[in-house]
Amino acid sequence: MEMVKLTINGKEVEVPAGTTILNAAEQAGFSIPRLCYMEGLSSVGACRLCVVEVKGARALVASCAAAVAPGMEVQTHSPSVMEARRMILDLLIANHPLDCLTCEKSGECSLAEYCYEYGVKESTFKGEKHNYPIETSNPFIVRDMNKCILCGKCVRACSEITGQDTIDFAYRGFNSKVIPFYDEELVESNCVFCGQCVSVCPTGALTEKQMAGKGRRWELTKVKTTCPFCGTGCNFD
Ligand code: FES
Repeated sequence: MEMVKLTINGKEVEVPAGTTILNAAEQAGFSIPRLCYMEGLSSVGACRLCVVEVKGARALVASCAAAVAPGMEVQTHSPSVMEARRMILDLLIANHPLDCLTCEKSGECSLAEYCYEYGVKESTFKGEKHNYPIETSNPFIVRDMNKCILCGKCVRACSEITGQDTIDFAYRGFNSKVIPFYDEELVESNCVFCGQCVSVCPTGALTEKQMAGKGRRWELTKVKTTCPFCGTGCNFD
C-alpha cells in the first residue's frame, strides 16, 4: 500500500495514499469539526466547517473532501481557520431557530455543540428567517425544515444506505430545501420510515416522533435489532 508522509500541526504523520486530511488528522489525534461529513457516506464538502490551512494553498481547504499529499503541512486550528469556522457557524444560525432549550435534539445537536465550542452565541447577521410549517402528518418522523442546515446527510443516507432516494435538494438560494419528490409530505412519498435520515441529521430538523414528550434521548435505552428498516428494535439476535 502506498503511504504518504505529511505534517499536521507540526506532527509527522504517515497514512495510506487517498486518505482525507480529516481522517489523517484524526489518526494523529486532532479532532476537526464537521457537519456534513460522516463515515460511510460520500463526501460532498457542503458545510465547510472542517476547513484547514494547508501551506501554499490559496484558500482554506475542506479537509473532508481533500486527500493528503506528500510533504503537505496542515494546520487544523490556526487563527484563520478558527475565524472561518466562527463565521460559518454565525451564518448557519442566522437562519436557524434558537430554541435550543426546548428543541427535541437538545443536548445532542452538533450545531449547538460547535457554537458552544467556538463561542458563537448569536448571529451577527440579521435578516429573513424561514417559517416552514412543521410536518407531523406521519406516525414516525417530525420534519422541521426551519432547523435544516442543508448538510445533505439525510439525502445521501436515503440514497446511499437505503437506496430509496425519497428526498433531494430543491429550489435555489434562500429557498433551497430538502424535499420528497414534488415537495409532498413524507406519507405521500415512497418513504419507508426506516429512520436513517433521522439518525444522521446533525440538528433538530429530523426527529423521531415517538420521542416527543416521552423522555430525552439520554433517558432512553438502545436495543440491538437485525431489522435494517423498521427501526422499532424487535431485539432479535
Ligand atoms: Fe467537511 Fe462539511 S464536514 S465540508
